[in-house]
Amino acid sequence: MLAGKNITVGVTGGIAVFKVAQLVSSLTATGAAVRVMMTKSAREFVTPLTFQTLSGRQVYTDLFERPAGGSVQHIDLASGSDLIILAPATANIIGKIAGGIADDLISTVVMAASCPVIICPAMNVNMYNNRIVQRNLAILGDQGYHFVEPGLGRLACGTEGRGRLAELELIMDKIEAIFANEGDLQGRSVMVTAGPTVEPVDPVRYLTNRSSGKMGYAVADAAARRGARVVLISGPVELRPPAGVEVVPVQTAAEMHAAVLDNFSAVDVVIMSAAVADYRPRNTAAQKIKKHGETMTIELEKNPDILAELGRIKKQQLLIGFAAETEDLERNAQKKVAAKNLEMLVANDVTLPGAGFGTDTNIAKLIFPDGRIVSLPKMDKLALAHRILDEVLVLLK
Ligand code: PMT
Repeated sequence: MLAGKNITVGVTGGIAVFKVAQLVSSLTATGAAVRVMMTKSAREFVTPLTFQTLSGRQVYTDLFERPAGGSVQHIDLASGSDLIILAPATANIIGKIAGGIADDLISTVVMAASCPVIICPAMNVNMYNNRIVQRNLAILGDQGYHFVEPGLGRLACGTEGRGRLAELELIMDKIEAIFANEGDLQGRSVMVTAGPTVEPVDPVRYLTNRSSGKMGYAVADAAARRGARVVLISGPVELRPPAGVEVVPVQTAAEMHAAVLDNFSAVDVVIMSAAVADYRPRNTAAQKIKKHGETMTIELEKNPDILAELGRIKKQQLLIGFAAETEDLERNAQKKVAAKNLEMLVANDVTLPGAGFGTDTNIAKLIFPDGRIVSLPKMDKLALAHRILDEVLVLLK
């Protein structure tokens, strides 16, 4: 899949530079044309010779170097890349890109690039948690940059926490997901649901859940990249809509129900990753409820089970559900496959680290009505989205 792709790796100054040597070696082995750029700080850790040897190509270090032929190096590197990976990405380079600063080779190439950029942060845990760094990451997320979140564990500075460069397998997953199966869903229509629903109690309070929408947005993004027409019915989330996807924003389960039914007859596939509230307050107070007494009861009534209803009325459509479980994953998921008349269900145990709500990765089992179960390892949500779509393609045939 990566053979012939032009992949540019931007290496900035952190101790994890030594792990990126393995990444460059693995990428080169796939047949990709790998070019490496290094900052001055990165060269304090490892010399360019290491990357030159592993990639078999010149290493770029200087913004003002003029290549033979008189072209402009940072523009050549930007326009000649199918993908840019920044690994390790320091707080400094993240801050520069988020702030629109281009004062060295890597920040200038990233600013001039129109290809996807994957950022793999690695730094001390306090630096990673610093609110300014988190704000910069959020700015970049909103602008469509991709991330492979740092891992948890012992850091080079002796502390414990999140900050280690992500495992190379996760970075490779993300890279492959970016290029996966371009165009194989051409001519198909896919409806995806994502995020939570919010069920108002009064004008200032509501019932909701922990869904960030990342899983559903990854599915919508992957389906659009593969050429499908995608409609994304989204609960309230803080994510930038994927390119080329029609987004229908909703708040409540009732609104999601109506939007899904509106679009159902025109689609071939439905993938319901939204965490829909099973119940809503029977009455929504018109005014803020005043405090009184030691306890308070809110009466709830059942929301429609959207997926179960689709299971009853479906014609040619494939129905793919998700199941968020905290115990007895396989048994509970198998019951949902039957009860909702699904072609496949993606079951995740949301108590596992790196799975479920809010994370960039997930650990899932694909459950089929004939009893078949495929257990997948922890993977980036975009990679899981592509894995789900690979199964969808088989089911469509
Ligand atoms: O959004 P993220 O932070 O990335 O987190 C991802 C996720 C954990 C939300 C996702 O991976 C997931 O598991 N989504 C399904 C959550 C859920 O509501 O599961 P459930 O087991 O309660 O519901 C089963 C299926 O029925 C789901 O496809 C759900 O969308 C659907 N459903 C549920 C209730 C309802 N009233 N109507 C429905 O259609």
